[in-house]
Amino acid sequence: MVNITKFGTTKEGLPAELYEIVNSDGARAVVSDYGATLVSLYIRDKDGNFKDVVLGYDALSDYENSDSYFGGTIGRCANRLRYGEFILNGEEYTLDINDNGINSLHGGYEGFNKKCWATSVEENAVTFSLISPEFDGGYPGNLIVTIRYEFTDDNELKISYLAQSDADTIVNLTNHSYFNLDGHDSETCLDAELCVNAPFYLPVNEYSQLTGEIRKCEGTPFDFSSPKVIGKDIEVDDIQLRLTNGYDHTLVFEKSERGAFEKCAELKSLNSGICMEVYTTEPSAQFYTGNYINNEKGKGGVLYSKHQGICFETQLFPDAMHNTFFPSPILKKGEKYTSLTTYKFYAVR
Ligand code: BGC
Repeated sequence: MVNITKFGTTKEGLPAELYEIVNSDGARAVVSDYGATLVSLYIRDKDGNFKDVVLGYDALSDYENSDSYFGGTIGRCANRLRYGEFILNGEEYTLDINDNGINSLHGGYEGFNKKCWATSVEENAVTFSLISPEFDGGYPGNLIVTIRYEFTDDNELKISYLAQSDADTIVNLTNHSYFNLDGHDSETCLDAELCVNAPFYLPVNEYSQLTGEIRKCEGTPFDFSSPKVIGKDIEVDDIQLRLTNGYDHTLVFEKSERGAFEKCAELKSLNSGICMEVYTTEPSAQFYTGNYINNEKGKGGVLYSKHQGICFETQLFPDAMHNTFFPSPILKKGEKYTSLTTYKFYAVR
């Protein structure tokens, strides 16, 4: 069942709605056509009580004014493109520089998280669609995008992405939810236990630009190959952790084959008992421990602080146009970009 309520009116006077997908157990995923955003996600804990496990805002205007990307759809290209430029088919393209005065981040000034999307509703799913015009954020080609959120009776949130362009372009879509399995109002996510099937990670420089190196996680604070409390190594004197004020790095999954839809991570709260499994077709995820959240007034007036939520943004390796041995983000005219990520929840005692 999907319940629809008014969210508000944007600065431009466009209406925005909330769509609450309720499953047979009463668990709920609330999404909005503003930014194709995941606003709330109510999951039962080990005592059977619902907890809202994603950070977010109460007011539409907060989503419009914020640069935290809470729950938003990220496009056209997730993460940072060094110097906001790239060359495709011999043409140089210049993107919005909205990060550190030096990078293009998450699609530019008006990324997909700031757009009003068209909506269609099914029994347990909501699909958002958008036409991103040529040179939106600087990117070539008119791009048609659809994002489908399905919430099943097995507490799986399935996010599927589809995009097609009328000219060659680049695409790397993701969702920017900040999870806290003790509830969004719980102060830290660092006490949750994480296990990731990622033998490698991508180091960055002082501007969070990828250095192009693919480094082994083994023997470093980035090793989550067996369950480890997230905060365990976060203060270790590791140059990569210090550069980004905590984890803010791309973890590279071990996959049986390219594009295989496989489990890549498990997050478990030792308090609420809520567990989240992540399955994806993508080769990597940006693992971000909310290092730059700073007294942000969120849902219910709760003040969110540093490390209150973690992001697990499944995607292609960022900045692949400058690191051409990475899987390519190029979407050829008329071809289809597809991607699927499932976040599955359950609780244990
Ligand atoms: C990036 C962070 C950034 C955050 C919010 C994450 O995807 O990796 O560096 O601060 O988004 O913009």
